[in-house]
Amino acid sequence: MSDIPEREARVFMRAGKRQPLTLVRGEGVRVWDEEGCPYLDFTAGFAVDSLGHCPPVVVAALAKQAATLLQVSNVFYSVPQVELAELLVEHSCLDRVYFVNSGAEANETAFKLARKWGKLHKDGAFEIIAAENSFHGRTLAAVSATGTARYREPFTPLMPGFPFVPYNDVEAIRAATNERTCAIILEPLQGEGGVNVPAPDYLRQVRHWCDERNLLLILDEVQTGIGRVGALFGYERAGVEPDIMTLAKGLGSGVPIGAVLAKEHASVFEPGDHGNTFGGNPLMTAVGRDVLRYIIEHDIPANAERQGERLMAGLRGIEDRHPEVKETRGMGLLRAIEFHEAIADAVNLRCIANGLLVNVVKPTALRLMPPLNVSEAEVDEAATLLERSLTEALAGLKQG
Ligand SMILES: Cc1ncc(COP(=O)(O)O)c(C=O)c1O
Repeated sequence: MSDIPEREARVFMRAGKRQPLTLVRGEGVRVWDEEGCPYLDFTAGFAVDSLGHCPPVVVAALAKQAATLLQVSNVFYSVPQVELAELLVEHSCLDRVYFVNSGAEANETAFKLARKWGKLHKDGAFEIIAAENSFHGRTLAAVSATGTARYREPFTPLMPGFPFVPYNDVEAIRAATNERTCAIILEPLQGEGGVNVPAPDYLRQVRHWCDERNLLLILDEVQTGIGRVGALFGYERAGVEPDIMTLAKGLGSGVPIGAVLAKEHASVFEPGDHGNTFGGNPLMTAVGRDVLRYIIEHDIPANAERQGERLMAGLRGIEDRHPEVKETRGMGLLRAIEFHEAIADAVNLRCIANGLLVNVVKPTALRLMPPLNVSEAEVDEAATLLERSLTEALAGLKQG
């Protein structure tokens, strides 16, 4: 290892944990460390690099737009911004788009939209029911809506108005609804919470409840959107339409961009209600536009579905051969393998040693989320490396 960790320790805020690896280069599904060692990257920038590392479509869009127009204030019209918004509207069930820079900011914006809608249409209702184990980001309102106590507690008092209910429990949503409720925010499947897939009719029942009680359904598709779960959007797999949807991560395939989409009836912002400096700037929206076009034209969600099933078959094979595995689950190319014991860290370290990058999503579980254009051979290689790493970690733990 180089001196990067030591240098960082002197100057960086210690807000997050690092893996013992400094990455310097990427191409396709592989990244390389400073010593030139390659790794098969099944983290993909945490479900961001939808087309792999340094995909030609992103490199070309960046170069072209960088030489044309980088940034203008949002007080002016911009061509790539409108083109990306048109594409999103054309290919989703939503009618209007607003651009931001990250997933957390997309959710912040969705909360403002829902609160304003509550003021206009529901007598000032402002509560947004959220799920336990959810993840919506780390800004103050987003973390207030995030159902993981350890992310919230250091920052209390938080933003009021986010009651929590267990995920995958429609009855709990019904019970938590009152005259203050304006919306419900859910992930189609929980990513950071451990890749938790709800019952097939969960979102349909929630949608039904929202219709009955005149509530907005906000789907946080920051992780599931843009092909990750085998359809362009997770809501398609669930057979429901949200009133508001948030996107980020895979939309830019490596560049920071987020978006909030809303149906016409929920699109209640008026000029002056919201704004930002960088959101939707020409550079990021030109990339987002070309990425989304590529994903649609090459039917990348279909590849995510195919390879996701192949990955799942590989994980199930590991499960069959190793009683230490409790469960494998997920959808498309968002998958997890759960162990009976808290051995995910140990397995992850062996994965790194064997040239595979995965994510310790819980002490007992690893998450796999490769680029959406991953090949069969790469999926098979990952399954082989993962099984080898598990075997080695178990042997190491036995030896103590
Ligand atoms: C479902 C979901 N929402 C929101 C976020 C926050 O996105 P960002 O890190 O871009 O703020 C994440 C990040 O992992 C996420 O998975």
